[in-house]
Amino acid sequence: MTLETNPIIDLIRARRSVRKFKPTPVPDDHVLMVLDAARLAPTSGNQQPWKFLVIRDRQAIEQLKLASIVKTVQYYKDNFELTPEQLAEHTANLEDYTEGFLSAPVFIVVLVDSLSKYPDYNKHDGPLAAQNLMLAARALGYGTVYGTDAVSMDAVRQIFAIPENYKINCFIPVGVPEEWPDMPEKQPLESFIVYEKFS
Ligand SMILES: Cc1cc2nc3c(=O)[nH]c(=O)nc-3n(C[C@H](O)[C@H](O)[C@H](O)COP(=O)(O)O)c2cc1C
Repeated sequence: MTLETNPIIDLIRARRSVRKFKPTPVPDDHVLMVLDAARLAPTSGNQQPWKFLVIRDRQAIEQLKLASIVKTVQYYKDNFELTPEQLAEHTANLEDYTEGFLSAPVFIVVLVDSLSKYPDYNKHDGPLAAQNLMLAARALGYGTVYGTDAVSMDAVRQIFAIPENYKINCFIPVGVPEEWPDMPEKQPLESFIVYEKFS
């Protein structure tokens, strides 16, 4: 099936999850453009329950890297019966992955406020802002990735002093990709569509 296209749809197609970045700086005005797109996302009852935490502090990111690796290695030890060689290999892969993920010059944590007007709907509002953010970043030439398990969220909360009422939706690196990955395999459009009713 071939579909007609337009610039917005091309942009949606061109967004990729990026996990390794060049040190090229992302200027503040670009960060603001991306956050402006994020805050224009739809929200339940227009409640806009977000905070966008912007992080550039390399020292804090190094702290996060270490805490995230230590936590995941402990998880491996507690949950899998690995030989010392297997553990060493998993740890090396984890270090590579975390190093790449945290190589971006700037990170944005999307938070939602449990004290908002309609807190039950925060779970919808957070990801919608995050998607706007990722598409706006792509429009400016930056890669992103919607990070959930990539870093320890307990460590994020502690290092960046996030108050208890803010729930962490995702942790997004923003930067010029080391390279743009190919699109991973996506299932065909037809496989997702049901017309009128399930038969
Ligand atoms: C809810 C959700 C959680 C995700 N968590 C992570 C994560 O913790 N670490 C990571 O590297 N990628 C994470 N991703 C990115 C996905 O792996 C990625 O979107 C998927 O492989 C498809 O690739 P694409 O974004 O390039 O289309 C997450 C994506 C979503 C939607």
